[in-house]
Amino acid sequence: MADNKRNRPIGIFDSGVGGLTVMAEVIRHLPNENIVYFGDVGRCPYGGRSKETIIQFARQDIKFLLEHNVKYIIAACNSVSAVALETVKNEFDIEILGVISPGAKAAINYSKNGRVGIIGTVATIGSNSYAKEIQRLNNDIKVFSLACPLFVPLAEEGYMDKEATKLIAHDYLKTLIDVDIDTLVLGCTHYPLLKNVIAEVMGDKVKLVDSAEETALELTQVLDNNGLRKEETEEVIHKLYVSDVPDNFSDLVHKFLGSRINNITRVDITRY
Ligand code: DGL
Repeated sequence: MADNKRNRPIGIFDSGVGGLTVMAEVIRHLPNENIVYFGDVGRCPYGGRSKETIIQFARQDIKFLLEHNVKYIIAACNSVSAVALETVKNEFDIEILGVISPGAKAAINYSKNGRVGIIGTVATIGSNSYAKEIQRLNNDIKVFSLACPLFVPLAEEGYMDKEATKLIAHDYLKTLIDVDIDTLVLGCTHYPLLKNVIAEVMGDKVKLVDSAEETALELTQVLDNNGLRKEETEEVIHKLYVSDVPDNFSDLVHKFLGSRINNITRVDITRY
């Protein structure tokens, strides 16, 4: 039978469970699509690693997804999108959408005063990718970037409403409050989980941009423009592959995806 491209799964990869926030948005906007997710849980976090290492890991993640005959790939990890995407995009014969460009476009649309903040991992902020993309699209926008590395473990530990998280958020974000931004991009897969705390600290005049949601919206558009939406008649399958399964894993998946998933398989990513 001829392989009908539109019915192939969407491939999503991330350094770990964080990209499940992107998968959750993809499921919300494209509930009929099959998804194969790879989370490099065993080698997470990527955000403090060198560019060379992140590129090498991203190559392996993509090779793994290609084995699953995916029709489109999302690099859900901001750190990968920021430092590796430009390089790996040219090495594979498949469209790969990162999370930087959708987040950057949304920030430009939302900002009224032309002052935008970006928060992310050390790798993402160090690459300056969001700032470059925003200024490539609109050179009048002033961008203020800030690494908030403690937000990743806080989200994974479920410290959403704790006083400690508020204190850390205040400490990190005060420099952004001082520069009068009206838009703040959550440039890391984990930060949507801390949205309430970040919103409280930044105040209601600052619009938060969720790169995960913006990416799902862009994917929807791309699939529609290319006639690549899956046929409704087919059943929907979501598969989760990971390079390690820690003890608390199903709780972690629930936290980031917002639902449980039984279809979890461990893979040796170093083979790719
Ligand atoms: N997924 C990463 C990101 O969005 C956060 C976790 C990590 O550092 O690997 O940048």
